[in-house]
Amino acid sequence: MKNFYITTAIDYANGSPHLGHAYEKILADVIARVKRLSGVQTHFVTGLDEHGQKVQQGADAEGIEPQHRCDRIADEFKEVLTKLDISHDDYIRTTEDRHKKVVSELLQNLFDAGDIYQAEYEGFYSTRAEQFLQEKDKVDGEWPEIFGEVTRITEKNYFFKLSKYQDWLIKHINQTDGFIHPEFRKSQVLEFLKEPLNDLCISRPVERLSWGIPLPFDPQYVTYVWFDALVNYVSAARYGEEDFSEYWPADVHVIGKDILAPPHAVYWPIMLQACNLALPKQILAHGWWTTSGAKMSKSTGETVSPLALVDQYGADAFRFFVMREMTVGQDAEFSLERFSSRYKGELGNDLGNLVSRLVHMCHQYFDGNAPAQELSEDLEKGLQSKWGEVSAKVLEFYDTFQFHLALEEAIGFVRAINKYADERAPWKLAKSDKEEDQKALATSLATMLEGLRLANELLAPVMPGVHAKIAECMGQEPAAAWAGRLEWGTRIEGVALGQKMILFPRD
Ligand code: ME8
Ligand code: MG
Repeated sequence: MKNFYITTAIDYANGSPHLGHAYEKILADVIARVKRLSGVQTHFVTGLDEHGQKVQQGADAEGIEPQHRCDRIADEFKEVLTKLDISHDDYIRTTEDRHKKVVSELLQNLFDAGDIYQAEYEGFYSTRAEQFLQEKDKVDGEWPEIFGEVTRITEKNYFFKLSKYQDWLIKHINQTDGFIHPEFRKSQVLEFLKEPLNDLCISRPVERLSWGIPLPFDPQYVTYVWFDALVNYVSAARYGEEDFSEYWPADVHVIGKDILAPPHAVYWPIMLQACNLALPKQILAHGWWTTSGAKMSKSTGETVSPLALVDQYGADAFRFFVMREMTVGQDAEFSLERFSSRYKGELGNDLGNLVSRLVHMCHQYFDGNAPAQELSEDLEKGLQSKWGEVSAKVLEFYDTFQFHLALEEAIGFVRAINKYADERAPWKLAKSDKEEDQKALATSLATMLEGLRLANELLAPVMPGVHAKIAECMGQEPAAAWAGRLEWGTRIEGVALGQKMILFPRD
């Protein structure tokens, strides 16, 4: 059966994991979890991009082998994935044989088909950007700072015929709804494609760079790192194996806006088309997090790394924050104040307090057993009908990558439960011996429990750990799939509840 195949960018093995890497993996993870919960068989791949000049230079500077350095960095990145509760099915590294073999095979095919040719190149080269430059890359007659040292070089290299596919690509982008998401990035790509494409230099002479995959048709060269890295998506999909079609084409490539055009929206579709492989269905380009120093400093002046918040507050709070705060596709500012306000407000006051006071009351008034709903009056009916609206909206927002809105709605429902509680005031009802007050007391707690059970279902993709804790406390298995679990009335009457817990402790 064809999987829903979702990938992230593979991170460069030339530095340590940071907030941007973490966010992207969380975003893809949430999408993957939503799919699985929706009953779709899903394959989620992330990994590491290990070749290229910067990796070699980093290893040289440390006086160690590049592979050794990559192994260490791979461990560091994988540790972050574990910490963030990322549910990837596979982790691909571009130094693995399964990948190198596919890169060689595709290069040979393109060479045999005449889409790769050798030519003399004379021009400017930026070591920092690992790319050849043209006059048009100058700003006010100067090479911009981002290119570092720029030198003039002449060398023979291999080129991939991008230009041959330019018209086809423009047509494909125009005709394929949703190929580039969000929509406004599509116009940026089309803008880029208004200029004639130059063929892409896909080789580096070994004298200059040895840390790469050798060209199968000329061992004097290694493969340009982008040509190598992009292929990970098909090598992880088991290209060349019988079950390739169970994975490929990818349903969504999740990447950051900086690597949309040209790598993912130009090189990659053309490489696939030239290899007669199907194109991914969608490229999802997220925005960038900015962290201005001041906003990440404590009052003491000490600066805090965003990833340090994971250790302090747990993966779930961090995942919630980044998904709640960023509109997918837009940039956002990461600040301690924002984090703290979401943590204390939506997580602590709204969700955390509901859980603790509700469980506490069930223990206090019903020996820790979930009571039965005995009445169905306007207040109960109101909350129930709100659930109908909220759940439909949240699922829709999840499907359209509007996670900030999905969470706003889900937390809004938690607040509606709290409001219901204030209106029913079970703590007052508990003081009365009247039969109807006792019925209302049981009803109020049963209704709140059912509301919480449901809200908790919707939080599962974003806060899998908190979801499991709440579910367990209510005697439920954590959700593997939503089917049959989202309807109001799957009551937990009679269940022995767990102990009161503090989900989001104050520091
Ligand atoms: O680009 N906010 O690797 P990389 C959000 N190896 N996302 C950010 C970010 C930020 N501040 N900074 C980086 C590469 N990212 C290549 C990819 S894919 C075949 C090869 C995102 O480690 C960035 O947009 O520089 C990219 O999607 C990912 O982190 C990895 O960046
Ligand atoms: Mg980068």
